[in-house]
Amino acid sequence: MTEITAQSIDEALRKQLDALSMSVESREVGTVIQVGDGIARVDGLRGAMAGELLEFSGANGKTVYGLAQNLEEDEVGAVLLGDVTAIKENDQVRTTGRIVEVPSGKAMLGRVVNPLGQPIDGKGPIQAEGMRPVEFKAPGVHARKPVEEPMQTGILAVDSMIPIGRGQRELIIGDRQTGKSAIAVDAIINQKNEDVICIYVAIGQKASTVAGIVETLERHGAMDKTIVVAATASDSAPLQYIAPMAGAAMGEYFIYTGEDGQPAGPENPGRHVLIVYDDLSKQAVAYRQMSLTLRRPPGREAYPGDVFYLHSRLLERAVKMSDENGGGSMTALPIIETQAGDVSAYIPTNVISITDGQIYLQTDLFYQGQRPAVNVGISVSRVGGSAQVKAMKQVAGSLRLDLASYNELQAFTQFGSDLDKATQDQLTRGARMTELLKQGRYVPMPVWDQAIAIYAGSEGFLDDLPVQDVVRFRGELLDYMHASKQDLVDRLAAEKKWTDDIKADMSAAIAAFKTQFSTSATA
Ligand SMILES: Nc1ncnc2c1ncn2[C@@H]1O[C@H](COP(=O)(O)OP(=O)(O)O)[C@@H](O)[C@H]1O
Ligand SMILES: [Mg+2]
Repeated sequence: MTEITAQSIDEALRKQLDALSMSVESREVGTVIQVGDGIARVDGLRGAMAGELLEFSGANGKTVYGLAQNLEEDEVGAVLLGDVTAIKENDQVRTTGRIVEVPSGKAMLGRVVNPLGQPIDGKGPIQAEGMRPVEFKAPGVHARKPVEEPMQTGILAVDSMIPIGRGQRELIIGDRQTGKSAIAVDAIINQKNEDVICIYVAIGQKASTVAGIVETLERHGAMDKTIVVAATASDSAPLQYIAPMAGAAMGEYFIYTGEDGQPAGPENPGRHVLIVYDDLSKQAVAYRQMSLTLRRPPGREAYPGDVFYLHSRLLERAVKMSDENGGGSMTALPIIETQAGDVSAYIPTNVISITDGQIYLQTDLFYQGQRPAVNVGISVSRVGGSAQVKAMKQVAGSLRLDLASYNELQAFTQFGSDLDKATQDQLTRGARMTELLKQGRYVPMPVWDQAIAIYAGSEGFLDDLPVQDVVRFRGELLDYMHASKQDLVDRLAAEKKWTDDIKADMSAAIAAFKTQFSTSATA
């Protein structure tokens, strides 16, 4: 028996390693042993990689693509991305050495596509510039820098209290029908005059809802700069699963490529992207369904354990690039639907923990007419403050906390009678500021208008108005400002902050407007 030495072990290992020839170019052919529920079990693909694109040769020479998911000793479990019915037992399957890629480039703008990037809007084929992988390793910290530019949503309640910066990940969370999609769509509409490209990823929604959103974006002139990626409720689970990654890939093209189509760099700025994932709860459900069909062990709430990793990988792709890398950005607005307000369920807690804050929408506020139904107490933006416009920060800096304490005070004093003057004043102000934040759909406000509205409130100009007049006052005041005091608005926009002069002139202008404002008859 030969003696075992460190050297002999070393030699044996080296021999083994030399014999192992690894190449991504290798192609293998296997056969389908079973197919059902959109899942195929394939024999003979020992070299398949996790997530690799597999090519199934189905009936009548039809090619269907699949994703290698479970790599087992003697078989591969794959999910099918195309026409499942075309695949039968004994069909051939090839590895491709690639992962799923989607077409990308400028030609995608204005189009509605499925998660494979194929057009579904009947507007003909897309001449894409190239392909990008749906899974892409997010840039590391060295390639990034902190958020510094605002991502204006045009929504007063958001831009004033929960400011979002370009490159940030801000979760929109709430029960169904609380206005989550509305916030995201309004934010997209607001980019129409900004240098931001938008991607709206619809996951598991009704096709008619998606069509309605596309129609809305078209009507408001925002579709030209938007790509809609749709995996509707009637699409297969794998397509719903892959949709957010496909959308991210299409967005990444713009971050990493300049206007000229060349790679972004110090001399060639990358572009800014806003991506909405509506919603990731449905993606998680699709992923759970796939995993259960693949017989992966179920974890909490029967989701596979790596659903957290799926979402964190996706949201890491939101980024603000450093100047050397072109300074482009991708801001992500993931949406999560809660059940009966339960944010402590598995998927909500996961996504809360991997975002930079959340806009929490609440059913009872929505039905009380507080729309957008933002719960100011538990909504937060952890990084956007540094990107907020100074003029807004000056007037809205303490608004969120003021309103949160107003809400508590209001609940507390509901039944009390003798309140001291300070408490009464706080209630008066709080009620008007809360009212001031109401905003209809499709009417994004420019940030300077927002700053003027909040200034009017925080300087007390609303305190003696009936609450029900506040929104009308805001609208008429801004009309007045643009009609008679545009120079003052321009000064604020030029200075980007409130100087003593601008404050004095603004207060005088608001007071002048107020003398001609007719309050409604109060009861
Ligand atoms: N700010 C708002 N003002 C008035 N109606 C709104 C507002 N936000 C949302 N809505 C309406 O509320 C309904 C639900 O909104 P939606 O965004 O679809 O909710 P979710 O995505 O949370 O299910 C829609 O009919 C929408 O038009
Ligand atoms: Mg919705």
